[in-house]
Amino acid sequence: MSNATTRRPKISVIGAGFVGSTCAHWAASKELGDVVLVDINGDAAKGKALDLFEASPVENFDSNLAGGSDYALTKDSDVVVITAGLPRKPGMSRDDLLVTNAKIVKECAQNVAKYSPNCVLIIVSNPLDAMCHVAISATGFPRERVIGMAGVLDSARYRAFVAMETNTSVEDVQGFTLGGHGDTMVPMPRYTSVGGIPLAQLVSKARIDAICDRTRKGGAEIVELLKTGSAYYAPASSAIAMVESIVRDKKRILPCAVMLNGEYGHNGLFVGVLCKLGSKGMEGVPMLEMNGEEKAMFDKSAAAVKALVDDMKRLGLN
Ligand code: LAC
Repeated sequence: MSNATTRRPKISVIGAGFVGSTCAHWAASKELGDVVLVDINGDAAKGKALDLFEASPVENFDSNLAGGSDYALTKDSDVVVITAGLPRKPGMSRDDLLVTNAKIVKECAQNVAKYSPNCVLIIVSNPLDAMCHVAISATGFPRERVIGMAGVLDSARYRAFVAMETNTSVEDVQGFTLGGHGDTMVPMPRYTSVGGIPLAQLVSKARIDAICDRTRKGGAEIVELLKTGSAYYAPASSAIAMVESIVRDKKRILPCAVMLNGEYGHNGLFVGVLCKLGSKGMEGVPMLEMNGEEKAMFDKSAAAVKALVDDMKRLGLN
């Protein structure tokens, strides 16, 4: 028997609302590690963590769960997911959350960095790409360790709609969206396949356009239905897919918001691109070839992110 001391990965989730608590649920049920939930409402975080732990004998997962308002609980986390902030209400765009959520994310990120200076930080709060800028400034982390969750979610919606359209298993639908997490996001039908067959051979151009349009408005569709907040199952599942790739060093290629450093002609801007995720965080940006139309859409989406980042500077938020 080895006497090496191993410990489970430690995953902290900041914000114990619907997205945060659902992240804890997926992470624990997949036995990705021990999970800490932090919220300004410490008792709610503690209660949700305890409730989830009490499900573990039934569901058979071994994961320690803790919750509270004190960031000391998060000490030495391997991965921290920031979900804190206000969600959208019907009629709001993600950008309407800028001022409120920038202040919340800044404070959360500073506290995270104090207790887990070596963690990989995943940002979920909206407006996503702008909040990544806030988090990287607040922590001083390198770009490899600040990654935004948006592309996995937008791609999940896109893949779900393609599966509905083709009446096939979601497992066999490959495809992704790039760009910012907003109305200008860029689904990539040319890189989409069903069972390996290019999408354009199976679905008409008009239907592909309709799927792309529904994907761009996918978050708003859920907000309109829920009325009191935004989506949480698919966002949380997407964030945990990223956590899993990191804590298990799977090196999956997932679309994520990454601070570009010359890739696709952009510098110092968080935009959704394909990204390799492993134990070090962002371990590379595999480049794909875009045609003129795709590149124009990607640049337009990057410009929308840049406008928000400039707004934050003007308002002294970052
Ligand atoms: C959405 C929110 C979480 O897309 O941005 O559902």
